[in-house]
Formats: sequence, C-alpha cells, structure tokens
Amino acid sequence: MENVTIISHPLIQHKISILRDKRTGTNEFRSLIEEIAMLMGYEALRDLPVEDVEIETPIETCMTPMISGKKLAVVPILRAGLGMVNGILALVPSAKVGHIGLYRDEDTHEPHEYYCKLPTPIELRTIVVTDPMLATGGSAVAAVDFIKQHGGRHIKFMSIIAAPEGVKRLQKAHPDIQLYIGHLDRCLNENAYICPGLGDAGDRIFGTR
Ligand code: PRP
Ligand code: URA
Repeated sequence: MENVTIISHPLIQHKISILRDKRTGTNEFRSLIEEIAMLMGYEALRDLPVEDVEIETPIETCMTPMISGKKLAVVPILRAGLGMVNGILALVPSAKVGHIGLYRDEDTHEPHEYYCKLPTPIELRTIVVTDPMLATGGSAVAAVDFIKQHGGRHIKFMSIIAAPEGVKRLQKAHPDIQLYIGHLDRCLNENAYICPGLGDAGDRIFGTR
C-alpha cells in the first residue's frame, strides 16, 4: 500500500492489545491512547526538516541540527482524535492545534460536520490529523477534504486502528497524504465497527455510552 506506514513496534502493539481489552477502564484507556500517539508521532515526524544552527556548548561553538521551516499543526477529529493530541504535543510543544468536529450518523454511517477551526496560515504547516479509528473512512475523507479546501497541503493522517475498507477509501480520495496506522484490522461488521477493533473509541476515552 503506497503512502501507508504500519508502525509495528512491539511497544505500540502491546499497548493496542490492552486498548482492545473490554476490561480496560477509561483512565487507562485515555493514557494508552496518548502514549501510542506519542510513539506513532515519533515515526510519523521522522521527515521533519532540520537545519544547522550555531550553539555554544560549555566546550566550544558548533553547528548542530534543529527542526526548521514549516510549522506543525495537529488537527484532531472530534471527539476521539482529541485523545491523541497531547501525545504529539509532548514531542512538538510549539505545534498549533485545530479541531474538526464530525460524528457518524448511526444509520447511514456517513459523517456530519458540526465544528471546524484551523490554525492559520494552514498552507505553510505540516498537518497531522489524528483519529484513533479509521473505519469506513468517511470521517477521514471529510476531514481531509475540509483541510484542503482551506489550503492545507502537507497532510499526515494518524490512526491507531484501521480497517482495510477505510484505508482504501482514504487512499483513493487523497492519494497524496501520508497515512500512519498502528494496526490494520480484519474488516468492518454490519454496523461499520472495526473487527476485532476496540469498540467505540470516543465513548471509551470519555466514559460515555
Ligand atoms: C468515530 C471515530 C472516527 C469515526 C470513524 O467517531 O473516532 O471519527 O468514528 O468512522 P468512519 O471511518 O466510518 O467515519 P464517531 O463518529 O463515533 O464520533 P465520536 O468520536 O464523537 O465518538
Ligand atoms: N468508530 C469507532 O469508535 N469504532 C469503530 O470500530 C468504528 C468507528
């Protein structure tokens, strides 16, 4: 799969297995989502540009690399994507945060937009869209559509668990974006939930039903 990176690090796989367990409570679930986002972010941001700057060490002056150029924006898809934001901010504290509010209609499974606010100028930023679940791909495609309509160009999409159906749909609609996933699951069920998945990510992060 072009432009798709499955980050199969043992630490990530271990934490995803605990997320899947229905006995894992809200507190632990929330912490794990954040930790996994940080571990995935480490890999997804590996191509951030650096430039040499002059630093004076206690010994001598040297030229040494620091992150340069384009600024980062993290854009969670509400609600569940919010759980991943602090993991990325732990790596890049200066990143700006936008929000895209989408919910899936329970019957049609199509996304409905209820809130959007992006940092400006969005076209100059590397944008990391976060959502723990990529199921049908409807929400992901709508979010990336929206970001592109507002001028966003350098887009990475980070999802902890994905279904093959969602990966295919997102790739077809937006072949130019980089997709990072923690685990590619088997399929969707008749309610468009990922199998084996972890259930409803938003409800498990926020303790709702
Ligand atoms: C979940 C999830 C994704 C979406 C994935 O959100 O967090 O945004 O479903 O499904 P899709 O790929 O079929 O679009 P949901 O709509 O349940 O909203 P929530 O995060 O507010 O619970
Ligand atoms: N949204 C979720 O939270 N879980 C799924 O399995 C599918 C969509």
